[in-house]
Amino acid sequence: MRRPLIAGNWKMYKTPAEGLDFVRQLAPLVDGVNDRDIMIAPAFPALETVAGALKSTSVALGAQDLFWEAEGAYTGQVAPRMLVACGCRYVIIGHSERRQYFGETDETVRRKLRAAVQAGLAPVVCVGETEKEREAGQTFPILDKQIQNGLEGLIADELALLVIAYEPVWAIGTGKTATVGQAQEAHRFIRSQVARLLGSPLASAMRILYGGSVKPENISELMAMADIDGALVGGASLKPDSFSSIVKFK
Ligand code: PGA
Repeated sequence: MRRPLIAGNWKMYKTPAEGLDFVRQLAPLVDGVNDRDIMIAPAFPALETVAGALKSTSVALGAQDLFWEAEGAYTGQVAPRMLVACGCRYVIIGHSERRQYFGETDETVRRKLRAAVQAGLAPVVCVGETEKEREAGQTFPILDKQIQNGLEGLIADELALLVIAYEPVWAIGTGKTATVGQAQEAHRFIRSQVARLLGSPLASAMRILYGGSVKPENISELMAMADIDGALVGGASLKPDSFSSIVKFK
C-alpha cells in the first residue's frame, strides 16, 4: 500500500551539463515505470537544468539541503522557496555527511524540517547510527533520539509528505550494507516510534527508505522487507544504468 520511492543523492557530483546528460540517458530507461516514485537530488547549481530535462519524465526533483529562513543575509544558504522555484518537490534533511562535516544536529534538522513542510516540500529526513554506536548497542536509543528531537513540535497533519531515510553511517559509501534483517529491524523500530509520537495512521502511511551501499544486486532483497519502502542511493545513482536497474527492482 505504500508506493515505493527510489531516490538518488548525487552529493557533490555533476555539473549542470553532466546532470543533463544523465537525465537524457535515464529517461528512456525508466519510461513506462509508473508503479513507484523516482527522485534525483542534484547539487544546487544543477537543479534548474535538471528540472527542465525532467519535465517530460515521471522523475521528481529533490535538493540535498535547505536553510530554514525565508530570505536574508545568510551567505551561502539556500531558502526553501528558491528550491520550490527551481522545481524541487523533495528535500533531503540531516544527511549523515551534513551531520558529520557541517555541524548539523537534531536541532538544525528540526528547523529545516519545519521550513520544508511550510514550503510544501516533501522532506527526506535522514537518521542512522555510527559503527561505534552500533557496536555499543546504542542503535535504537540513537534512532529514538534523532526521531524524537528531529520531529519535535510538528503534528501529523503537517507531516503527510514525510519520508524518513534510515542510513547506518557505517554502510554509506563503504560497500558494507546492513543485512536485510538489520535494516528491517531498524525500519520497524522507526515506524513504531513515529506511531508513538504522531499516531499510527501517519506511521503506517509514511515511507521509510534504506540507504547505504544500495546497488542493483541488493535492492530486491531489501525491498522484500515489510518496512522497507524504498532506497536513498548515493554512489549507484551516478550512472543511468545502475540507477535505472535499482529503480526497476522486482
Ligand atoms: P551510498 O550513499 O549509496 O553511496 O552508500 C548513500 C547516501 O549517502 O545517501
